[in-house]
Amino acid sequence: MIRFERVSKVYPDGTAAVDGLSFEVAAGELVTLVGPSGCGKTTTMMMVNRLIEPTSGRVLVDGRDISGVDPVQLRRRIGYVIQQVGLFPHRTVLDNTATVPALVGWKRSKARARAAELLDLVGLDPATYGPRYPAQLSGGQRQRVGVARALAADPPVLLMDEPFGAVDPVARERLQSEFLTLQATVRKTVLLVTHDIEEAVRMGDRIAVYGQGRIEQYDSPAAVLGTPATAYVARFVGADRGLKRLSVTAVERADLEEPPVARTEEPAGDAARRMRAEGARWAVVLNGDGELHGWVSALALDAAPSALGAALPRVGDLARRMEAWVPLGSPLKQAFSEMLQHDAGWVAVLDGSRFAGVLTPAKLHEALRRSVDADAQGVGRAEVDFDSVSDA
Ligand SMILES: Nc1ncnc2c1ncn2[C@@H]1O[C@H](COP(=O)(O)OP(=O)(O)OP(=O)(O)O)[C@@H](O)[C@H]1O
Ligand SMILES: [Mg+2]
Repeated sequence: MIRFERVSKVYPDGTAAVDGLSFEVAAGELVTLVGPSGCGKTTTMMMVNRLIEPTSGRVLVDGRDISGVDPVQLRRRIGYVIQQVGLFPHRTVLDNTATVPALVGWKRSKARARAAELLDLVGLDPATYGPRYPAQLSGGQRQRVGVARALAADPPVLLMDEPFGAVDPVARERLQSEFLTLQATVRKTVLLVTHDIEEAVRMGDRIAVYGQGRIEQYDSPAAVLGTPATAYVARFVGADRGLKRLSVTAVERADLEEPPVARTEEPAGDAARRMRAEGARWAVVLNGDGELHGWVSALALDAAPSALGAALPRVGDLARRMEAWVPLGSPLKQAFSEMLQHDAGWVAVLDGSRFAGVLTPAKLHEALRRSVDADAQGVGRAEVDFDSVSDA
């Protein structure tokens, strides 16, 4: 969808901002460009919508060399969230959002209806926020308007330059996950610039790690963290990259253990006998539909009254609530954090509402190893070979 072929940019004063850049972004893919200040990220991005022209090499969008495409036409198909948001201060939020549709000649009423729809999409009530001016919004709200404005003409490509840069870490994390949810539905081809490796890892299907004017590694987040291509990348991602891997490795079915199980309707005495025979100290409690009800200890079952005449207790009566659980496919980090938060030796893993198994610390460690090994074998490597992109 977006392809850079040996692109260089030397500014008139001789600054070589980008040097021989080759990479490709597939349709519907979100690629993050990450690197220190001044390494050429914004320059790269602006060459996609021709706000900056390369000195050499070429950029293709949708298979077409964009040097032959009218910049105005080109920009209609490319949404742009600029660094520092850049809303027009004297225009309302609604009119800011409607800027591009209005520019490309939509009727005013249609452009405004579309703008309202988009504000809603990014979590801003159009009735409340539409009439306000940018100065009357919080930083996070302004950034949402920036995203809404970029999406307004429904462009297939989105360029986002530090879109969540100007807010505190909490608001930032919320904006990030909201955008990921949004992206799961709109599936734009996205280039997102950040200087924050955490953000790059969290948001990117792939990450381009920039050194000075060049890409040092172009890979999946797990691969960048697991097998940094150069000493520079290793330094850039940080000594805690092992920890960061927890965020990009998902809990899979194969990682799960099958613990002893008891059913809510089962008489407590039966369950206690069975668990004693298996040497189990606790069991996961499921209801008749296989949904997680909680857990029960062998001790609690043993202590239950079993006097004849009184109603016999069922497992469900003695079970405790299960607090540590995550959905299948969650990042290992979330599972680990549940364990710590609830001081639990394991977490339950659910597939929808059905119980799938439990993740133990030993299995968590194995899962982390598995993803390191997968990367070492080249799975998930970038398909672009930087030296073999043809000039054709
Ligand atoms: N118009 C220009 N003329 C000369 N040099 C420029 C110009 N614009 C940018 N540069 C230089 O090109 C290099 C790359 O700039 P660029 O804006 O692409 O960096 P960046 O990676 O986006 O940095 P930041 O994270 O600070 O936004 C920098 O050294 C910058 O000073
Ligand atoms: Mg920049």
